[in-house]
Amino acid sequence: MADSKSQIQWIRNDKTGKNSYKEELTTFLNPSHINHALQWLKQMEEYQETPLVYLKKLAGLMGVQDILIKDESHRFDLNAFKVLGGAYAVVRVLCERLGKEPEEVSLKELLSEDTRKKFGEILFVTATDGNHGHGLAWAANKLGHKAHIFMPKGSSLFRLKRIQKEGATAEITDLNYDDAVRYSQEYAEQNSGIVVQDTAWENYEKIPGWIMQGYAIMANEIIMEIEKDERKPPTHIMLQAGVGSFAAAIVGYFVEKYRENAPKFIIVEPDQADCYYRSAKINDGLPHAVGGDMNTIMAGLACGEPNLVGWKIINHYAAAYISCPDEIAARGMRILAAPLDGDEIIISGESGAVGVGLLSVIMENASLKELKDHLELDENARVLCINTEGDTDPEHYRKVVWDGKNPYEA
Ligand SMILES: Cc1ncc(COP(=O)(O)O)c(C=O)c1O
Repeated sequence: MADSKSQIQWIRNDKTGKNSYKEELTTFLNPSHINHALQWLKQMEEYQETPLVYLKKLAGLMGVQDILIKDESHRFDLNAFKVLGGAYAVVRVLCERLGKEPEEVSLKELLSEDTRKKFGEILFVTATDGNHGHGLAWAANKLGHKAHIFMPKGSSLFRLKRIQKEGATAEITDLNYDDAVRYSQEYAEQNSGIVVQDTAWENYEKIPGWIMQGYAIMANEIIMEIEKDERKPPTHIMLQAGVGSFAAAIVGYFVEKYRENAPKFIIVEPDQADCYYRSAKINDGLPHAVGGDMNTIMAGLACGEPNLVGWKIINHYAAAYISCPDEIAARGMRILAAPLDGDEIIISGESGAVGVGLLSVIMENASLKELKDHLELDENARVLCINTEGDTDPEHYRKVVWDGKNPYEA
């Protein structure tokens, strides 16, 4: 279904039904596992919960009960959520090498001379649009190891330098994201490295599973804060997807926590890299890939091949898949940068802002009424969006927010 003005395409997922909990899909994201991951990362002095911001005025304007923004631009001073996954995966790889469970190992032990002597310097390898590589480089450095990072064609030089600043070697390739992922595997094999990739494929599921557990810490923090404040949980969650590890991690946690009362999950992708939307459209029960350069300002979401573990979770639980042009993300960035009087400013990058941009367009645009009704986005809706990155490409951020690049026309 397409909206002719905004070029938003969407498709509903009617498989979602009450009582359709499928244990085998999400037990690894159960709050008890995620709490372990959280306890581990809490040992790092950089760990701090990120803010959960209520945009009351915006909610009023849009006609919903609440808009909550989990603001990951404050995560570990790294301006994006991704380090949660990379750091936890590196920790788990190191614990495994020690032959111990993470509960049996402390950060101090991992950093000790003894452990260093046992391991030597390990090389971690990955492909990234920027944020995952930045997080992995940070974690490898923090734990005394090395990282080599491959970036896809067209990656931002600012993001490359930011990774190199964390002590990693990094390069921009002439490959798209998915080919860079394959290339990093070859490189790791040739250089005795360990691939820590933020997506799963056949026979490569353990490390991405740890990464997803790290991501689910965000959901854990959100729920803890909501419960502490005796507020009600969200009824809707906007989840932007690249390979879908992030979205599936959040879905999995909420499903484990609330089962049949879980919120509605809305999967949002750039139209140039909408592999979930297209897979839903083909609807043969299999994930389908998008190829080519995937030119979008939402660099973090420019991934054409779904994470196989994530796809199963999302395919089962998503309420709708929405494919968006860049203008929607740009609108979200501007809405958050120039809030209504009384709401807080949020610095949100391209991949972080698309959920808010989309919500605004759905609520305002009569031609999207069928989608709004399907999702039951009304005055009872409490909508959670996760600002997964701040201005990770500051020059482009200013072009959008200051100069009005990618204008949205209603
Ligand atoms: C800022 C940002 N948001 C969202 C995502 C999407 O995560 P995933 O690729 O797991 O779907 C990414 C991925 O790199 C990202 O960098």
